[in-house]
Amino acid sequence: MANWRVKSLDSILATAEKKSLTRSLGPFQLTMLGIGGIIGTGIFVLTAEAAQKAGPALMVSFVIAALVCGLAALCYAELASMVPVSGSAYTYSYATFGELVAWIVGWALVLEYAVAASAVAVGWSGYIVGLLAQLHNLLPFLPNIVIPPEIANGPYAGGIINLPAVFIGMAVTALLVVGTKESATVNAVLVVIKVLALLLFISLTVPVINGARFVPFAPLGTAGVIGAASSIFFAFVGFDAVSTAAEETKNPQRNVPIGLMASLLICTVIYMLVGAGAVGSYGAQPLMDAAGVGFEPGSKELTAACSAVQGNLPLVCSKEALAHVLRSIGHPVVGSLLGIAATIALPSVVLMMMFGQTRIFFVMSRDGLLPPVLSKVHPRFKTPHVVTIITGALVTVAAAFFPVGKLADVSNGGTLCAFFLVSLAIMALRVSQPNRKRSFRTPMVWVIAPLAAAGCLLLFWFLVPVAKAVFFGWGAVGLVFYFLYGRTRSNVALGLDEVHERDDDIPPQGVPPLPGIPTPGGKDA
Ligand code: ALA
Repeated sequence: MANWRVKSLDSILATAEKKSLTRSLGPFQLTMLGIGGIIGTGIFVLTAEAAQKAGPALMVSFVIAALVCGLAALCYAELASMVPVSGSAYTYSYATFGELVAWIVGWALVLEYAVAASAVAVGWSGYIVGLLAQLHNLLPFLPNIVIPPEIANGPYAGGIINLPAVFIGMAVTALLVVGTKESATVNAVLVVIKVLALLLFISLTVPVINGARFVPFAPLGTAGVIGAASSIFFAFVGFDAVSTAAEETKNPQRNVPIGLMASLLICTVIYMLVGAGAVGSYGAQPLMDAAGVGFEPGSKELTAACSAVQGNLPLVCSKEALAHVLRSIGHPVVGSLLGIAATIALPSVVLMMMFGQTRIFFVMSRDGLLPPVLSKVHPRFKTPHVVTIITGALVTVAAAFFPVGKLADVSNGGTLCAFFLVSLAIMALRVSQPNRKRSFRTPMVWVIAPLAAAGCLLLFWFLVPVAKAVFFGWGAVGLVFYFLYGRTRSNVALGLDEVHERDDDIPPQGVPPLPGIPTPGGKDA
């Protein structure tokens, strides 16, 4: 059946060889790239949402989400070491399950990357709004600036539009259009800022942990704990940025698995300590209605319940969770410093996610599954401006009107789909191509890969209904588009050997390199 046509691994590898980008990244830079993609809105903002679902048991939710990501990362690592090319899950699926599944994965990755960019933009908005409102405490010669809630929230929380999120969405789009690249140095500096901010948080909160704050531990039950894991999973997403950089990595067979696992491990340890510190120093009990049902994060009901609270605002009400904890336990200046760190660092996650999106679109367009206009390159800036502007507009509109938690959940739906298929792909390739060189072999693959797949299904199952509905709706639109467009126009359908370029093919250097990666070179340069 034509739709199951696969792209051979040899063809993919030969194409990559021909259109190769400069291989300049080592294990340290890859780990930094991974941490740069991972730490963002998830830990800085969604900790509050996770607390609203799980209470103090959010620590367990962190562990569940980290386990699923760890298992998926082990599968990613083997595939990345076999197919060290750009395009990540999409490319792997093309080689194993064929075009239709690859299309579905690429389409799902739009949710992962573009919607994640929106979520991080909304997270940034919470921090900048909180920071401006505290400006005077930090810089006494400046007044506090209060942004009216109507223009700092979407309709979900009783506002009209989230203007700060719109601002950052448009600013990042403009930067990508003019070809701003996050240099390896900038990425490293931002990673250091984020990690230092979190270490500072840990050092001030962990020593004052009070065991009583962990009781009741899971007031909303197991469903709340797993539901929170489905949301906080967002905090771990981004490590796959490492595998998408495989084409630009020295000795990818060795370094990509190191980068994936190291970045995930470092972030997991940091998150566990941050979670323990937040719960134990300040408390993380959810707000519930009279019947004991937790209010839905991001809802008007929760906003109303938060407004009615007398005294200290609970963690679950804060849009800048970690800064709020520090301010509330007697460290207002450090709280604002953490706010500054988040405000500086989060835009780079927006940039990375939006960039990832343009890269996926680019590869799909190069394969003929999307219109060539999407890989049109700006004559002066040499960037794929059309796809960047389209992506930026979608990201900005979503950020303007939707709550951070829902956006993160929708993004998680796409990511879990991609991870699920990667877990299946690794097993399929062990059977179909047992002798192909794998410099990294997933240990106990027949245990790890099925567990990864099952973990993805579990977290998907516990996503909020609206996230699942968006996922399937988006999938349906994608299938219609594929059957109307890509099925007959793809390179594979046209019998084009990818190693010989199409006339309308755009060389990869039309696309700026991944953040942290120097200018591409290679034979086409
Ligand atoms: N993991 C990234 C974040 O939390 C997407 O912002």
